[in-house]
Amino acid sequence: MPLQSNARFLRAIAREPTDCTPIWIMRQAGRYLPQYRATRARAGSFMTLCKTPELAAEVTLQPLQCYALDAAIIFSDILTIPDAMGLGLQVIESKGPVFSHPVQDEKSILHLTLPDPAKLAYVYDAIKLVQRELAGRIPLIGFCGSPWTLAAYMVEGKSMPGFPLIHEMKEKTPALLHQLLSLLAKAVTQHLLGQIQAGVQTVMLFDTWGGLLNTQDYEAFSLYYLREIVQALNQSVPVILFTKKGGQWLSQMADTGCDVIGIDWETSLTDARKIVGTRVALQGNMDPAILLSDPSTIRKEVARLLAAYGHGSGHIFNLGHGITPDVPPEHVQVLVDTVHELSLPYH
Ligand code: CP3
Repeated sequence: MPLQSNARFLRAIAREPTDCTPIWIMRQAGRYLPQYRATRARAGSFMTLCKTPELAAEVTLQPLQCYALDAAIIFSDILTIPDAMGLGLQVIESKGPVFSHPVQDEKSILHLTLPDPAKLAYVYDAIKLVQRELAGRIPLIGFCGSPWTLAAYMVEGKSMPGFPLIHEMKEKTPALLHQLLSLLAKAVTQHLLGQIQAGVQTVMLFDTWGGLLNTQDYEAFSLYYLREIVQALNQSVPVILFTKKGGQWLSQMADTGCDVIGIDWETSLTDARKIVGTRVALQGNMDPAILLSDPSTIRKEVARLLAAYGHGSGHIFNLGHGITPDVPPEHVQVLVDTVHELSLPYH
């Protein structure tokens, strides 16, 4: 693995001294960038963009050409795993992701098998292309969805507020749901190991819908499988865990053996730091809506969040959720440069 010339991100994960606070942005390659929209139009569809390594590599690199970001994230989607399991994924402009074969009964769940790694080779190929371009300048993050979050989409078949069908399955046939989650934990582990072998230096688990669960169910249906995945990776690379609306479970999350916890904007960085102590680093947590305001409001919010974390290493600046398509690209410039500038006195 080449030595990173920009090591801020990896050093902050290890809580080693840095010159300033590193920043990257969830969904940093996305529709707010005109360059992304152009490449996506050239691809014809979102899934073709994901499945064409040259184009996926191109959009991964676009935000790095515009901004002084401290990490790259491979362009892909969490739903590539269910797609490779045969559920047939389409991402439709006005509706988001839709599966042509959702898994809603015992028969379809019992029929599922681990995806053939060859069906996800396009992700590994894109990673290799990006690493060739980056040549060790900036670290690259790989990712997967959590088993619970993947299952929510697989059972519902699409995005749906509250994901009622998986809750019904959890109440009526919990053993069947555990069977699905257990298979997904193996599929996620296999896909993360594939990405690590292809060259990513960190992996992130997106548990976007873990916050729909109560504490007892979060432990049983989401955190249990996240822990299994973290332990199976066996410290090969640092792991970032992100449960949206997971602020009440930071201590349990830190005990999984992960290296970083991503927090959304509902949790205070000061409180989170007190809870996790020296166990993990923290990533977050600006409200993405702030990027729709104006440069002086963005600067004030950055200053507030840097002060909330306080002095020392272990903070990776990010949003509390993905950047939205309506953000003016100039505001991202203000954000990235302000984080680097205003964080200097804290290091
Ligand atoms: O961060 C990055 O730059 C890497 C790319 C990335 C995408 N999806 C690209 C994408 C990542 C990390 C994801 C993760 C993902 N995908 C999550 C977890 C993170 C989160 O946002 O909570 C989830 C839940 C999904 C499933 C998914 N994919 C949804 C709900 C949608 C529609 C969202 C929307 O805004 O329309 C997608 C499609 C998708 N994945 C887009 C992008 C850039 C937008 C579609 C497009 O460009 O046509």
